[in-house]
Amino acid sequence: MEIIVKDTVDEASAIVAEILLRQVEEKPDCALGLPTGATPLGVYARLIEDFRNGCGCYNRAHAFNLDEYLGIPGTDTASYAFYMRENLFRHIDFMQRNIHIPDGSAADASAEATRYETQIAARGGIDLMFLGLGRNAHIGFNEPGSPHDTRTRRVALTASTMEANARYFAPGSRQPTHAITMGIGTILESRRIVVLATGIEKASAVAASLAGPMTDAVPGSALARHAHTTIVLDRDAAHELDRILALEIDA
Ligand code: PGA
Repeated sequence: MEIIVKDTVDEASAIVAEILLRQVEEKPDCALGLPTGATPLGVYARLIEDFRNGCGCYNRAHAFNLDEYLGIPGTDTASYAFYMRENLFRHIDFMQRNIHIPDGSAADASAEATRYETQIAARGGIDLMFLGLGRNAHIGFNEPGSPHDTRTRRVALTASTMEANARYFAPGSRQPTHAITMGIGTILESRRIVVLATGIEKASAVAASLAGPMTDAVPGSALARHAHTTIVLDRDAAHELDRILALEIDA
């Protein structure tokens, strides 16, 4: 596992954007796994800026979103389909047919999860999976307790995740309690994984994931099972990592 620590969120985001850009250059028809949330916004902003400057071509690439809320349609402004459209897809040249996001309004969530797994497999798996890390160390919506061999499925969100994400819902609107997420097993089958975690509120989750025991209680600890994972942190997120002896400081 490679760990890169940068001084600022901007610098950390630039590293991840560069990794994504390189992937698309090396394999134009690659499959990218993409996350939502606050963390990726700086990465997506850079990809958009690069694209406007003539860098990056996504018209043969496929995008597979990590997760989606259940019970809201993709047109809802709180849906991850909406987030991805607004924060990335509508600004660059992804083909609509190559954008894959679980359908949060599916009547049968488990059939939808199976369909999603089949789509990923049909593309030959994910080449590069970009992930954030939850404050509770979740990856995707694989909450603490998720076994490391899980597949895409319907999950219940924990109170801490709902609290962390409450800011995205208008006061009085109904916040989803469930989601469809790629499983940890699904994520670990990606050829390469890059994780971005920034901010002091992620420091404990980063330390538990990278320096603690491998356990279902810490979904991020599953990353150590993967042979080609790059973790990109800012100094705040790396704050509790001094227990890792081989920490590579690349500032
Ligand atoms: P955040 O979420 O980027 O909004 O902090 C990360 C995650 O939950 O994976």
